[in-house]
Amino acid sequence: MNLEVLNGMLRPKSIAVIGASNKEGKIGYTVLKNLFADGYSGEVYPINPKDKEVQGLKAYSSVLDVPGEIDAAVVIVPAKFIPQVAEECGKKGVKGLIIIASGFSEVGRKDLEQAVVDTAHQYDMRVLGPNIVGILSNSDNCNASFAPCLPLPGKAALVSQSGALLIAMDTSTYTRRVGFDKMISIGNMSDVNFGDLVEWLDADENTACMSFYIEGLKDGRHFMRAAREAHKPIVALKSGVSAHGAAAAASHTGSLAGSGKIYEAALEQAGVIRAADLNNLFDRTLALSLQPPMQGDNMLILTNGGGVGVLATDAAERAGLPLRFAPEDVQTELKKHMPEFGSARNPVDLTGMAGVEWYHDTVRYSFAHPWVDGLAVLYCETAMTIPQEIAESIKQAIDESGVTGKPITVSFVGGEQSEAAMQWLLEQGIPAYDAPDTAVNALAALREFAQGRDTMAKPFVPFNDVDEEAARAVIAEARADGCRNLTEIESKAVFKAYGLPVAQTRLATSEEEAVRLAEQIGYPLVMKIVSPDILHKSDAGGVKVGIKNAAEVRETYHTILKSVRAYKPAADLHGVAIQEMAPWGTEVILGSVNDPTFGPAMMFGLGGIFVEILKDVTFRVAPVSPEQGLKMLSDIKAGAILAGARGEAPRDRAALADILSRYSQMIVALEDEVAESDANPVLVYEEGQGAIVVDARIILKKK
Ligand code: COA
Repeated sequence: MNLEVLNGMLRPKSIAVIGASNKEGKIGYTVLKNLFADGYSGEVYPINPKDKEVQGLKAYSSVLDVPGEIDAAVVIVPAKFIPQVAEECGKKGVKGLIIIASGFSEVGRKDLEQAVVDTAHQYDMRVLGPNIVGILSNSDNCNASFAPCLPLPGKAALVSQSGALLIAMDTSTYTRRVGFDKMISIGNMSDVNFGDLVEWLDADENTACMSFYIEGLKDGRHFMRAAREAHKPIVALKSGVSAHGAAAAASHTGSLAGSGKIYEAALEQAGVIRAADLNNLFDRTLALSLQPPMQGDNMLILTNGGGVGVLATDAAERAGLPLRFAPEDVQTELKKHMPEFGSARNPVDLTGMAGVEWYHDTVRYSFAHPWVDGLAVLYCETAMTIPQEIAESIKQAIDESGVTGKPITVSFVGGEQSEAAMQWLLEQGIPAYDAPDTAVNALAALREFAQGRDTMAKPFVPFNDVDEEAARAVIAEARADGCRNLTEIESKAVFKAYGLPVAQTRLATSEEEAVRLAEQIGYPLVMKIVSPDILHKSDAGGVKVGIKNAAEVRETYHTILKSVRAYKPAADLHGVAIQEMAPWGTEVILGSVNDPTFGPAMMFGLGGIFVEILKDVTFRVAPVSPEQGLKMLSDIKAGAILAGARGEAPRDRAALADILSRYSQMIVALEDEVAESDANPVLVYEEGQGAIVVDARIILKKK
């Protein structure tokens, strides 16, 4: 991507305001006024076909009349005029169009939107929006929007798909005390999308953390790739995850909100830190923009109040970072700074007697201790202490410890003095919150950031013992026969080409052949109808298990054909499959779909009631490494069964993780052909005994 062009658009040195107005109350009036009011120092050119002057500045009737260069054009004229505006901007050499106007794909005018983008691309221009509020940047004193003011200065960058939400967040940065350098409204994402902005913000010197409000991604794969490669934390609030919410989002933005579960998986796989709600987005953004990642799981909590300590402990567990007791040496040292009835375990309760010195000494010692990966310091305002003095002692202790790569968050619970002390801490770069659970949750976000980076460091490595050509040959043959539903035998041949262990299955087209194959494979056996027209073989009477000898093979061969013919007389019958009868094991299911946003995605769950009734399944965007495959096994609630619950021997999870990873490679490689597929059931045996795909199904894409 050309970051230079985006730079021109998002950090412009000159701006044309197309539709700049003298009429108070119009957006074209406010945008121009905002540029002056917030001190933008670049060139500003109002464009208005009727007025010679707008708000005291010389106005031009077209960008083509402007004498100087124009980096960005903010477009605030009715939608129908914008294709023409884009053409003129292109001729003028404008770098980017920031289209505030509505009336495009969000109201069914995708054609108009596309026409603007096509024109822009002809001239190498980028388009932000349409249907946006504009852009705000503290480091450029640039408020090219109709939001009331620049946000509280800070190191975060907000990108919001909802304009109204951006405006609301803008002013609340002052009351929430969370600083942002930039706010970018992304609207319909006709051209510039979240992926572009991840790349641009990752390279931006004034951004330390990206904070996103996402309703639906346009190009999920681009976003995942960019997020994986980003060095800075990305925290995202994704709305529209409920079925009703997704429908609302689709009508609101004209974009697909996608299936909630695949979104969840994709964001996690891309190392994106999730925010549960707007408050959480602010709170996590604050910590992520001020503090380094937390490199291990050991969070230590220091407090002068048992109650807030317990609240914080609960919050740590909820955030997936349960507290561990501090090691002996830490406890022994900390005990020196508390009364007899204090507790040095974790949370460390200094008790209500704690004053400035105890806070200072314990913070300094624990922050420097190698066991401690992150510190949450909690304080309840007491009559014996002055909040500001406690705040200063914490800051002094941190500085004296000489440690820089470790995170700290603070919570002061109290009145005005505590508020003022927290304000002071924030100015020192220490995230401070008025609730203990918030401070702990923010620290957990810093842990999630580090974990995400660790996962990114171990990407999927393709298996090289696969035979794509063989798989494609099977598919080509089926297509030549006009079939989109591969038979079980064909499906298994494709699976096998990717190194997936499949139960041996051969096709018999006569009774004699059935017996011959049965003798080769060995008893007991399963016999199944093979027909692209019969998807539910059992319902058609097309399956018989436990066949023990040649006589039973002969008899079954005929019974199966008879029942299937009766069930569906027109069905194309290829013959009867003779299949080894795998010993019974724990039944699991894999499935794949092509997600419209992220491409090939896979599902895993335990068979039977677990998937059908409890819907206990987990999703991933493919491909996944065997390590990520193992994580899928423990993601589902029934994962404990595979780990060996209630005295049962653990199942061969390594073999299953290998299967998941190979399967993911297969669905990515054959994405152009395979619409959906499943392996159902896969039987998993005890540790070291492997697993086997008993039945497989592939449905090809329409071509
Ligand atoms: N070039 C330059 N100026 C032009 C022009 C052109 N091609 N065509 C019209 N103008 C001028 C008009 O003369 C007018 O100036 P004036 O105020 O001096 O008369 C100004 O541009 C605006 O045009 P107007 O027709 O009065 O439109 P408007 O101000 O009523 O509405 C929008 C324009 C863009 C604000 C409106 O169409 C819109 O989309 N509103 C929704 C925006 C929004 O909410 N976006 C964010 C969603 S989160």
